[in-house]
Amino acid sequence: MGKHILLLGAPGAGKGTQSKRLADEFDLEHVTTGDALRANKGMDISHLDFEYDTPREYMDAGELVPDDVVNEIVKTALQEADGYVLDGYPRNLDQAEYLTEITDLDAVVYLDVSEEELVDRLTGRRVCPDCGANYHVEFAPPEEKGVCDECGSPLVQREDDTEETVRERLSVYHENTEPVVDHYRDEGVLAEVNGEQTPDEVFEDVTAAVEDA
Ligand code: AP5
Repeated sequence: MGKHILLLGAPGAGKGTQSKRLADEFDLEHVTTGDALRANKGMDISHLDFEYDTPREYMDAGELVPDDVVNEIVKTALQEADGYVLDGYPRNLDQAEYLTEITDLDAVVYLDVSEEELVDRLTGRRVCPDCGANYHVEFAPPEEKGVCDECGSPLVQREDDTEETVRERLSVYHENTEPVVDHYRDEGVLAEVNGEQTPDEVFEDVTAAVEDA
């Protein structure tokens, strides 16, 4: 059976970058709530009687999408996966409790990156809307400016990567998701990795943490 790996970290810590590589390395599904919600941004959730009628409105404001919506997405994705790297979930203690009810974890890895670095990374990130490849204007630029190396499509900035929304996402992270990191730390299952090294060095430490767990 494939491993169950949870990757935690603030917005911009490198979860997406490392999760894709980990999923390839250990032959696992990459389950990411951010990508799943972006693919369903326009989903009508008005019948659930929340503040907004679609995930898009929460995401563009940098707020969390309601638990009922996200929990369902994660449950289905984990049930379908023979081993996974989970990225972007849980983001609050209620989601962490739900996760404990639906699965067990082999490794929980936290990518530690300072706030200043997070803002630089997110505001400089560019993504390919067609194949999902991820770049940074300074730290990981494409060969040709503004063009995806993988598929040649024009790169775009994510709608929630503007400085104002990034600040809101970080404040939501401090309030809601840091307690989740503390929870796994208190349980003695958290492997902490310095996320400010090069992507290759981070990958080496994350892989070692997963193998040691
Ligand atoms: P989501 O897509 O999950 O965004 P996030 O957690 O804010 O994380 P990011 O994808 O922005 O960053 P990352 O850590 O993956 O970093 P990356 O590898 O790209 O969520 C978006 C929204 O969806 C949320 O705000 C919320 O509204 C909603 N949502 C999602 N999950 C939810 C949930 N569970 N509950 C409720 N709502 C939910 O790297 C960032 C940049 O840095 C890139 O440019 C990369 O090239 C660069 N980089 C990466 N590693 C390095 C390195 N080592 N050195 C230098 N640069 C690096």
